Formats: sequence, structure tokens, C-alpha cells
Amino acid sequence: MRDTESRYAGVEAGVGLTALLVAAARAIETHRADSLAQDAYAEHFVRAARATANWPLRPHEVPDGEANPLWGRLARYFGLRTRVLDDFLLRSVREGVRQAVILGAGLDSRAFRLDWPPGCALFEIDRAEVLAFKDNVLRDLNATPGPARTPVAADLRTDWAGALADAGHDPAAPTAWLAEGLLLYLPGAAERHLIATVDRLSPRGSTLAYEAKVGTESREVRESPIYTATKDQTGVDLLHLFDSEPRPDSAGTLTARGWSTSTRTPFDFTHQYGRGPLPEAHDALSSNRWVFATRTTR
Ligand SMILES: C[S@@+](CC[C@H](N)C(=O)[O-])C[C@H]1O[C@@H](n2cnc3c(N)ncnc32)[C@H](O)[C@@H]1O
Repeated sequence: MRDTESRYAGVEAGVGLTALLVAAARAIETHRADSLAQDAYAEHFVRAARATANWPLRPHEVPDGEANPLWGRLARYFGLRTRVLDDFLLRSVREGVRQAVILGAGLDSRAFRLDWPPGCALFEIDRAEVLAFKDNVLRDLNATPGPARTPVAADLRTDWAGALADAGHDPAAPTAWLAEGLLLYLPGAAERHLIATVDRLSPRGSTLAYEAKVGTESREVRESPIYTATKDQTGVDLLHLFDSEPRPDSAGTLTARGWSTSTRTPFDFTHQYGRGPLPEAHDALSSNRWVFATRTTR
């Protein structure tokens, strides 16, 4: 297998394993006394995979507790991100949007755990292997989605709009788009194509939230505890999985195309919600941004 392809192998290796990493973090978050988000499905995904059998799923199972850079601090970051993006989707539907597309959905269970109004349609795009694993686990749990849920198998490095259209997405109706923990893994050209596609399929009133990193991380940051602990404790080498190309200015592109955008740091939300990670020296989280956009023209 070529190196770039080995990064994509299945759900128990490469970038697929990152979906399990986030699921384990959500399981831990669910059981914190001061939980920011509840995901009762997350632990079932982690338990179902062989590669993750010994990962912690409860705060008391975390070696070193809160001091653990992976299952303490990074997991709390994922818990905060989950809550902020739950709120983004719920705000979008409150404002009248009735379809959502989750790009790089992984083991996202929002179709099952959020309170969707009647008449919503939810499309989850990821690679076929990840979606097949997810559907097996959900079937065993007899899980029933609130909105009409359609998994869409596609490689987001290719032209995926046809697969979404075939699945029944309506480009004439506003869409809430979400790319959580995805763009960092895509080549720059794929991110540009993704943003152009979202723009093309979004009438006025559509919304988009995505996670990005800005700038280049220094050697000190690349050697900092979040990256080293994740590699040591799970074998997931995030720095190897992240695409190494300079990132496009997607917020700038959206603004130029008639979207209003706001770029926030995770720490803004730590203050807003009263809990979450705080900045550290040589911090792997300091270049992370969460971008929120609304289509105001067309
Ligand atoms: C870090 S996980 C995040 C999953 C989910 N959004 C969440 O936050 O729980 C990244 C996800 O992006 C998916 N992904 C990465 N590159 C992809 C590609 N080229 N095409 C489709 N999905 C991709 C992976 O399979 C994985 O499920």
C-alpha cells in the first residue's frame, strides 16, 4: 500500500482510528461530573473495535486523570468541540434549516442523540469502511435516528457532490454543513474543492462550521505532550496523519463568496461554557480555530 493510502486504511488504522479516538473522548466526557456533552453511543464503538479494547471509557479509568495530556486535556477539548458543534447544528435548525450534511462524520451520533424537529434530513459522508463499521454497531444497539439519516460513502479527496445528490440532498434548500476534525487530514486541493462544493450547493440561509489549524507548528509544539501522549498511548501519530501542505484560507474564500464568517479559538468557548482546556506553553491546541459561516447572499 502506498504511504498516502495506508493513512486511510479501515477504521482500526490510519485516519479511521482517529474516529475511534474522538469516540473514546466523548465516552469519557459523557461520564464527567461536569460533562459538556452526552454521547451514550460513543463507548459502544470503542468496545466493538479490536484495536481499542484497552482504551479508557470513563474518567476514573484514565491513568493520571486530568493530568493525562491525551485522555485528560485533549479529550476535554473534544468534549468542548462536541458541545459547541451540537449547539451550532441545533441553532441552524432553530433558524429553519431542515437538512444537514456531516462531512467526515466518523462515529458522530448526532442523528441519534440530538433533539431534531420533525422533517429533518441528515447526510453523513465518510469512507465506506468507516460507515460499515458504524452501521454494524448501531444495528446491534437497535439505534433509531430522529431525522431521516442517510450514510453516504465517498472519498472527500474526490468529487463527492454526485454521491450526495444521489443520496437525496436538495441543493435548493438551505443546508447546515459540518466538518469537525476533518480538514486537517485533507490535501489543500481537496479542502478548496470541498469549500467550493459547499458554496455551490448552499442557498441563502445555509450554515457551515469547520475546524482548522492556522500557521505552522514549531518543533516545540510538535514535540509537546498532546502529540507525544497520543502516539505513545494509542499509536495514533496525528502529525503523520495531518496533511503537511500549507492550509488554504477557506474563511477568506467564503467571505469573498458572500458568507459571513466568524473565527473563534477553543479557549473562547472554554470561557463561554465555564469549562474546557486553557492555553499552555507550546500548545498543540493554540493554532486550532473553529470557523462558523452563514450564507447571506443568493
Ligand atoms: C478525527 S475523525 C472525526 C470524525 C467525526 N467528525 C468526529 O468528530 O467524531 C476524521 C474522520 O474523517 C474521515 N475522513 C478523513 N479523510 C477522509 C476522506 N478523504 N474521505 C472521507 N472521509 C474522510 C475519517 O474516516 C474519519 O472518520
